[in-house]
Amino acid sequence: MAGVSFGACAAAGQIGPKAASASKMAGSARLLCENCDRARILAFRNGGVLVTGSPFGNRSPVNTQTLPRIALFDKCKNFTKAREVEAAGLYPYFKPVSQAEDTVVCIEGRSKIMMGSNNYLGLTHHPKVLEAAKQALDRYGSGCTGSRLLNGTLDLHERLEAHLAEFFGKEAGLVFSTGYSANLGLISGLVGRGDVVFLDKLDHASIVDGARMAFGHTARFGHGDLDQLKRLLAKHESRGKLIIVDGVFSMEGNIADVPALSKLAQEHGAALVLDDAHSIGVLGPRGDGTAAHFGLSDEVDLIVGTFSKSMASIGGFLVGPEHVVHYLKNNSRPLIFTAALPPANTAGVLAAFEVMIDEPERRDRLWENTWRLQDGFRAIGFDIGPTRTPIVPVLIGTLEQTLIVWRRLFDAGVFTNPVVPPAVRPDACRIRTSLMATHTADQIDFVLEQFAKIGKEMGAI
Ligand SMILES: Cc1ncc(COP(=O)(O)O)c(C=O)c1O
Repeated sequence: MAGVSFGACAAAGQIGPKAASASKMAGSARLLCENCDRARILAFRNGGVLVTGSPFGNRSPVNTQTLPRIALFDKCKNFTKAREVEAAGLYPYFKPVSQAEDTVVCIEGRSKIMMGSNNYLGLTHHPKVLEAAKQALDRYGSGCTGSRLLNGTLDLHERLEAHLAEFFGKEAGLVFSTGYSANLGLISGLVGRGDVVFLDKLDHASIVDGARMAFGHTARFGHGDLDQLKRLLAKHESRGKLIIVDGVFSMEGNIADVPALSKLAQEHGAALVLDDAHSIGVLGPRGDGTAAHFGLSDEVDLIVGTFSKSMASIGGFLVGPEHVVHYLKNNSRPLIFTAALPPANTAGVLAAFEVMIDEPERRDRLWENTWRLQDGFRAIGFDIGPTRTPIVPVLIGTLEQTLIVWRRLFDAGVFTNPVVPPAVRPDACRIRTSLMATHTADQIDFVLEQFAKIGKEMGAI
């Protein structure tokens, strides 16, 4: 990777090619030696080129270097950046977790405090959630084997939809297989030719992709720049209009200005949609999201969300007016042309909602933890930006500095997420942390200590 000298890496800790390959060999049971006589699962060959071997015998994979050139694949061959970062021991992605116990995970044979999860309420291991999932597995089997439209709808999906509608105070709900597809399905389903969708520049990728998929026009405004939104709305006065923003922005942790957005939406006859992926279980008097946080549930037309964060599972949903939900149920391609949410996940989500309502103290603990970490970072001297939520990004600087800080935290037993371009400016890379209700004060203090030590040594504070 350009700009990362191995000398600097070595000085910074156990990073650099030697340490990287040592940790690969020592830590991972899946990376077996190439000469091993057991079946090879993965092996590094040709100076770090990853190839797959056959688990069924010693048959070598086809050497694609000798096949005729396929121009389409040139960009793949020329994509060396990730391999260079990996060779420097600084690649932070796709780290396989071999065991997870709430706030502690095992990666490469070592325990790490999980500071990069969206498991805000700590429900992935709650006995009621696990029990509900197990019972559904036994009753319905492991999958729905089809689309919601055809054979894939379960009574559990309908129960969950009725629950969602009631919980968020809307007429109807619709369950999708992921939060990503809920955004695709909502936007591409509603924004037809002649319509306009208005996006905040920091909206989640699934919103951007939904707008790309829609036949209507997309207008983007600067992050939180509601004057610009106002001008754009005025420009498209005579068209069908949808404004959609993250309730809590996933990179910054700040909260959308719902009062101002709903005023603008009403003035211009636009529908207002909040993506509450990071708000459910976090904001609102009952964990019921951003609109409820502002006491404006009736002013927000639709709420879209995911079960992959506070709800400790996978899946997505939307809630809103019955006629809109009915229309999308019959017209939304990302709902219709994909298999339904599996039974165990659906039942787990229903149980997670119950636990969230029955154990409000979890949300209190989440917020206590949030202030402890945020106050701690500020006291140390880190810039954590405008966050007002359990998403706490720590500004580090360049890509190289950020990856080195990430690696050193990882080696010290703290798992975090680096946020790098294009998500942020090249000089504003950060390490994103996020809190869970189940983090202990000791864990948070340990994380702060490691950040302080590494931040000082790296000159980040
Ligand atoms: C704001 C936002 N919307 C949607 C999604 C997609 O959700 P899922 O992971 O369930 O597909 C995410 C996930 O990171 C998100 O942060």
